[in-house]
Amino acid sequence: MSETPAVPVPVPDERAGDGGAGEDRATTGATIRLENLTKRYPGSPDPAVDSVTMEISAGELVVFVGPSGCGKSTTLKMINRLIEPSGGRIRIGGEDVTHMDPVKLRRKIGYAIQSSGLFPHMTVAQNIGLVPKMVGWSKTRVADRIEEMLDLVGLDPGEFHGRYPRQLSGGQQQRVGVARALAADPPVLLMDEPFGAVDPITRDHLQDELIRLQHELHKTIVFVTHDFDEAIKLGDRIAVLRERSHIAQFDTPEAILTNPADDFVSGFVGAGAALKRLNLTRVRNVEITDYPTVTVDDPLQEIFNRVRASGTNEILLLDRRGRPYKWLRRGDLMRARGSLARAGTPVNDTVTRDATLRDALEAVLTDNAGRVVVTGRRGEYTGVVDMETLMNSVHELLEADRLEAMENQHELAESRLEQTRHEQEGVHGGGEEQA
Ligand SMILES: Nc1ncnc2c1ncn2[C@@H]1O[C@H](COP(=O)(O)OP(=O)(O)O)[C@@H](O)[C@H]1O
Ligand SMILES: [Mg+2]
Repeated sequence: MSETPAVPVPVPDERAGDGGAGEDRATTGATIRLENLTKRYPGSPDPAVDSVTMEISAGELVVFVGPSGCGKSTTLKMINRLIEPSGGRIRIGGEDVTHMDPVKLRRKIGYAIQSSGLFPHMTVAQNIGLVPKMVGWSKTRVADRIEEMLDLVGLDPGEFHGRYPRQLSGGQQQRVGVARALAADPPVLLMDEPFGAVDPITRDHLQDELIRLQHELHKTIVFVTHDFDEAIKLGDRIAVLRERSHIAQFDTPEAILTNPADDFVSGFVGAGAALKRLNLTRVRNVEITDYPTVTVDDPLQEIFNRVRASGTNEILLLDRRGRPYKWLRRGDLMRARGSLARAGTPVNDTVTRDATLRDALEAVLTDNAGRVVVTGRRGEYTGVVDMETLMNSVHELLEADRLEAMENQHELAESRLEQTRHEQEGVHGGGEEQA
C-alpha cells in the first residue's frame, strides 16, 4: 500500500514549556495534535480517514463539519481511541497518547454523543458521578461534584438528582450527558452531534448553554456536526471535511463564509452566505441613530411641542427608568385628550448592542414601521436601528468582505503561479506535489 503524503495544514506555533507531567491542570484545555492520523476498516479498500494532520489549540472550540460518511466520527473517536488508528499519532497536551492505555486516556477526555448515551438503569446522579468515582474521588467530593455539574448545566440538583433518564425530556438528557462528560474535569471534551436529536428550539438553547459553559471553562472542545449553521455559531475555528476526512478548509467562521477555499466549501456554506454573515456582526458594529424621546413625566403640552419640533412624525415615549415604552405619532397625540394612557403603540421588541444583525433584521422586518429600539444593560433606551441604516451597513459589510476575498484570491493565485513556475523549473521541495 502506498502512503499518501500528508496534506500540509498550517499549524499555530507549538506552545513552549508544555512538557510537564500535566497531571492536574484540570481547569483549562490541552492542545490536541493529530499527525497523519489514518483509519482503515477491515474489508474496505479505501481508508475511512486518510492521513489527517491538524492542531487544535488549548481552550479552543473546533467544529468538524462535513457530509454524512466523510469520516467525522471516526476521526473524533480516534482522539479518545474508541476507534484505534491504523496509522499516525495523537498528542494531547504535548504527550503522545497513541499507545497509552485507552481506558486511562478516556478518563481524561469527556465524551458526549447524540441521545446523551446515558445509562438507563442509573439515576442522573449515578450517571454523572460515574467517572469521578472510577478515578477514586472520595464520596463527598463526588456528591459535591454532582450538584455542581447539575447546576452548571442548568438543572435543579434537588429535582433531577434521583431521576432516571427516561423521566427526562430530550434536552434535559442532553444536559445530563454534558454534565457527565465534564464531571471529572477533563481538559478535552469530544462531542459527536450531541444536539442532533432535539427539536430546533431546544437545540438553540443547548448551543447557547455550551457557549456560556465554554466561556467559563476554557476546555479544548472538538464538536462534530453536519449542520453548517451550528458550526458557524459554535466554532472558534471550523474544519470543513470532505471524503476520508480530507481537510477542505480549516479557518475561522468569518474567513470560511467570506472566502471559501473551493467549490466544495462554497457548496457546504450553501445559499444565504450573506444572511449567515449577519450572525457574525453585532448591533454595536453598525450606526445607531438617536431618536427624539420624551418621558411619561413630561407635560403633555411639551410632548406636543417636541413632536412638532422634531420634524419626524413620531417620538419615542420612555418610562420613568428611561426604558422604551411607546411610539407616539402626531395623530395619537390629537386623540390623547389629556392622557397618554391609551395613546400610541407599545414597544414590544427591542435588541441589545450585543444582538446579531440577524436578530436586528428580524425585528425590523416584523415591525410595521421598519425600526427597532436598541437598549442598554438595564433595558434603557440607547438609540434606534432602522431598515435603511441596517441595509447600508449590510451592503458595506459585504462589500468589504468581497474586497478582502478578492485580495486573498489574488494572493492565492499568485502563489499558485509561483508554485507552477517552480515545478516547471524542476525545483522540488521534497514532496512530489503540494496542495
Ligand atoms: N465500524 C465500521 N466498519 C467499517 N466501515 C465503517 C465503520 N464505521 C464507519 N465506517 C465507514 O467509514 C466512513 C466514515 O464514517 P463516519 O466516520 O461514521 O462518518 P461521519 O461521522 O462523517 O458520518 C463511512 O464510509 C462509513 O461507512
Ligand atoms: Mg458521525
